[in-house]
Amino acid sequence: MPDGIAYGGDWNPEQWPEETWEQDVALMREAGVNRVSVGIFSWSSLEPVEGVFDFGWFDRVMDLLAENGIGANLATPTASPPPWFSEAYPQALPVDADGRRLHHGSRQGFCPSSPLYREKALRIAEQVALRYRDHPALALWHVHNEYGCHNARCYCDTSAAAFRAWLRTRYSSLDALNEAWGTAFWSQRYSDWSQILPPRATPSFPNPGQQLDFRRFSSDALVELYVAERDLLKRLTPDVPATTNLMAGAHWDMDCWAFAAELDVVSTDHYLIGARRERHIDLAFAADYARSLGGGRPWLLMEHSTSAVNWQPRNLAKTPGELRRNSLQHLARGADGIMFFQWRQSRAGAEKWHSAMLPHAGTDTRIWREVVALGAELAGLSGVTGSTVKADVALLLDHSSVWAQDHPAQPTSELDPVEEAKRWHAALWRAGVTCDVARPEGDLSGYRLVVVPQLYLVSDEGAAGLEEFARRGGVVVVGPYSGIVDEHDRVRLGGYPGAWRDLLGVSVEEFLPLDAPIRLASGASGGVWSEAARVTTAKVLDTYASGEPAWTRNEFGDGVAHYLTTLLDDAALAEVLATACREAGVSPEAVSVPGVEVVRRSHPDGRSFLFAVNHTGEDATVTTAEGETVTVAAGDAVVIPG
Ligand code: GAL
Repeated sequence: MPDGIAYGGDWNPEQWPEETWEQDVALMREAGVNRVSVGIFSWSSLEPVEGVFDFGWFDRVMDLLAENGIGANLATPTASPPPWFSEAYPQALPVDADGRRLHHGSRQGFCPSSPLYREKALRIAEQVALRYRDHPALALWHVHNEYGCHNARCYCDTSAAAFRAWLRTRYSSLDALNEAWGTAFWSQRYSDWSQILPPRATPSFPNPGQQLDFRRFSSDALVELYVAERDLLKRLTPDVPATTNLMAGAHWDMDCWAFAAELDVVSTDHYLIGARRERHIDLAFAADYARSLGGGRPWLLMEHSTSAVNWQPRNLAKTPGELRRNSLQHLARGADGIMFFQWRQSRAGAEKWHSAMLPHAGTDTRIWREVVALGAELAGLSGVTGSTVKADVALLLDHSSVWAQDHPAQPTSELDPVEEAKRWHAALWRAGVTCDVARPEGDLSGYRLVVVPQLYLVSDEGAAGLEEFARRGGVVVVGPYSGIVDEHDRVRLGGYPGAWRDLLGVSVEEFLPLDAPIRLASGASGGVWSEAARVTTAKVLDTYASGEPAWTRNEFGDGVAHYLTTLLDDAALAEVLATACREAGVSPEAVSVPGVEVVRRSHPDGRSFLFAVNHTGEDATVTTAEGETVTVAAGDAVVIPG
């Protein structure tokens, strides 16, 4: 990280004549840019023919940056193999579940398990590292780009062999695999490893255990590719930090926790989805997730957009001031760097309609003025770097659980664990309560309240961890369809939710998905889902018309565990979470005002920065926990040092 906040974007000078580059860096200085990501999609320019390298032009790019005091997130260009690669090695192209081999012509055209891809990727990465290891512009390794964004799962024969090897390590014996996958069902029992395939297109539902393990394997294969490049870079430049830009909160094919464990600094990309009404709350979720991945350490927002993107059905421009609010939200939630895709808007190529820091129309534009103003503002906030956000609440979410629940044969197709997690996060956001995202197996001891919106699959360790948290005095709120299956997607028997019947003091005998919302005794409504449940040790706080429990509360050890057997409407969910916050002694940073976000970042020495972002069209006054009042104009954001 530079001394202050990293500010800049992806710079793709290879798309422009050299005459433009001087102007680029001059404008970067005008905008306060101190960091750019370079080389991300340069493989075919750096190695135009296999084994023939052309670094002259890139030397000039790196030198220009150094001369202008701009640091480089120097990419290994491995996210987009050149056409020569697939022409020479067609067997390294990815294959989809229907057996279609994909061709070059876009990006990420490779099979993650291909030894040929790995060999060529490591060769170009090594060339880059050897050439620039001592270059003064080199600040951070930007390995690859968004691993798995387009090729997360490959079903080719090479992947099949790698999958089998992965399974042999995981299960040792075929008997153990058959048992874990429940292959007695539909006569799927394997008598030889060679019979096992990736879950390719098949006449009916695929085996759930096979599907789940294939997703685990596919994510691991991508992490392995990162580690291979990272290790090579560390050998040549032990002191240069390395990262890869994740898509935390947006893309669920890769296990972000597994990646994060290998990164020197967590970096992530975030794009608003225009169709979502409260997109700034989605942003807060993604930022909270990114912070959590690094255990609370400052992280780097590697990409967001200055205005519209180019890949949604309707690409909405950001409204005046939205770019600044978005950036300050990320900063408030722990980012030490605010970067964009991309520096100069492309003239050609599939992303020419994607906004950038420097638009097609040039510098006499609203976007440019906002970019320059933001650069100046961030330069004045350098004291924020290194400070952290403390959350008392954790929200449990897990990739394996999301993957398992993704199997098509479910009691209802209307449950969506990620959407439900976001809905609970949004309820806390509206109450002004900052929350982390955590894994069930993670350390929960620093939290007062743990919420589990929908964790269908939980390992024995994760199940025990939550129980232990409550036993030691923590407050827990569990939503329905949680704690249902073990790590192999096999049902935990004896009444649902098998993992947490004791913790919750509840036993469920049947799921009762709903075809319309239903009213509860309290007047709240439940939707999508209900259960035939009975309490064992819990007290009933709300019921269905039948008298069966909809909301229960169980005292467990020194703590408390709430359970919901339906998806409560937003207002009722907010009420349950407010009750749990009170019981846990969790209070917001400020008295909440609808649409105004208040977060504090603090340094260990007590210095802090209070961020207040007003997402509404009305001026608002918030009162902090310390009794201070802060007025934030409509659409404005303020940062108050304390
Ligand atoms: C990201 C990617 C960038 C660019 C951007 C457009 O996923 O890393 O290269 O494609 O999306 O929004």
